Amino acid sequence: MLPYTPALSYIAEIAVQRLLELHSYVAASALDLGCGNGQKTFPLCKYFKTVVGVDASPHMIDDAIAHRGESCATFIRGDFAKIPVDDASVDVVTMWNSLHYADPKTLIPELKRVLRNGLVFICEPGPASRYGFSDHKDADAMLARKLIQIDKVRREFMDEVEVISYAPTDMGYTLVCRV
Ligand SMILES: C[S@@+](CC[C@H](N)C(=O)[O-])C[C@H]1O[C@@H](n2cnc3c(N)ncnc32)[C@H](O)[C@@H]1O
Repeated sequence: MLPYTPALSYIAEIAVQRLLELHSYVAASALDLGCGNGQKTFPLCKYFKTVVGVDASPHMIDDAIAHRGESCATFIRGDFAKIPVDDASVDVVTMWNSLHYADPKTLIPELKRVLRNGLVFICEPGPASRYGFSDHKDADAMLARKLIQIDKVRREFMDEVEVISYAPTDMGYTLVCRV
């Protein structure tokens, strides 16, 4: 099993800093959707006063809570299609490696509902990330299938939102948009 490493990638760290420079009012609260066990959620406490992680997996949520310590982050089990927070209660939603699990048709109305100003920050893996499949015997086929899914959902999602910045690299892309 990989070690628990609460950190953003270098590219994501730069992108979040840039987002905050451009939209300083977002600094109050972040919602991390599809937060897994919180490894990308905890680093957000450096930038936001309150951070809530939401994930459909009770196992992931329990693991995130177990690592919580003194962090500002809290965690709730919930689904992209019915996000368990109040209307207009969040300044920015982040999704790390999780957009491709969502259906943009149900996700986007929920994002509109929970966000005050509609800002969403997305970071998804690319071919050079290998998506953690490197050690698997079918790594190439699994990566190819995953990249097709990532690209399909990205295109569907981007067709429906106002793109503020989109930065694709071999390691993955970052997208800042308004829903
Ligand atoms: C690849 S993991 C990414 C976890 C975390 N964001 C990270 O980068 O470390 C994708 C996460 O999305 C969650 N997920 C998948 N479908 C979901 C849904 N419909 N609603 C909420 N979470 C979901 C999974 O449980 C999983 O923890």
